[in-house]
Amino acid sequence: MAIFVDSAHIDDLTAAAALGFVRGFTTNPTLMARETGDALAHFRHLLAAFPEGPAFYQPTGASEAALRDEALAAASLAPDRVVIKLGATEVGAATAGRLTAEGVRCALTAAYSPAQALVAHESGCAWVIPYVDRAIRQRLDGLALVASFAAVLATTGDTTRVLAASLKTPAQVSDAVLHGAHDVTAPLAVLRSLPVHASSEAAMREFASAWKAKAAERVPDSSAG
Ligand code: G3P
Repeated sequence: MAIFVDSAHIDDLTAAAALGFVRGFTTNPTLMARETGDALAHFRHLLAAFPEGPAFYQPTGASEAALRDEALAAASLAPDRVVIKLGATEVGAATAGRLTAEGVRCALTAAYSPAQALVAHESGCAWVIPYVDRAIRQRLDGLALVASFAAVLATTGDTTRVLAASLKTPAQVSDAVLHGAHDVTAPLAVLRSLPVHASSEAAMREFASAWKAKAAERVPDSSAG
């Protein structure tokens, strides 16, 4: 599995790369719009800020031709790294099907039904992306959605991975994996909280204090003789 950071903010990507357990980054047009008016130029900077691993870019055109042109421009920036996110729509699936046939890695995003997961598989996408917290906010069972994607894709031989997105808490991250997500993406703040637990911090304080007490005992020994 892989954990990705969901951000188009350069400092977030630098910080995520430093965490040591994050393997790439995902963006979307909303995240991009917060940072820039030129998504492709900004994406080039993001690739430099997070210099290894999959880098997800979502073109914004309404037609297949527009999506394809922007997708190819993004993919050309780092052909081995870039994954093109296309919406789980008729035009998105058609564009994905043709791009994957040409060797461009794609993901079908904002998917809300296992049928869309099947379409992702049949269009050659490497990932399908369910939005867990957005589904929960619509009073849907976001985790059951992840499980249904994983189940339907298992019958196809697992060549398309489930990348759970819209994860807002550490529990949603681990629950998504428990429900079959192969990979997850989350904002930097959520990723930073993954290694943290109050009892772990307490245990470290206890160890440090025990060792400090022992070190204090040793001071007279080392000065003797
Ligand atoms: O980037 C995909 C996904 O994480 C967007 O969902 O809820 O974070 O806007 P949300």
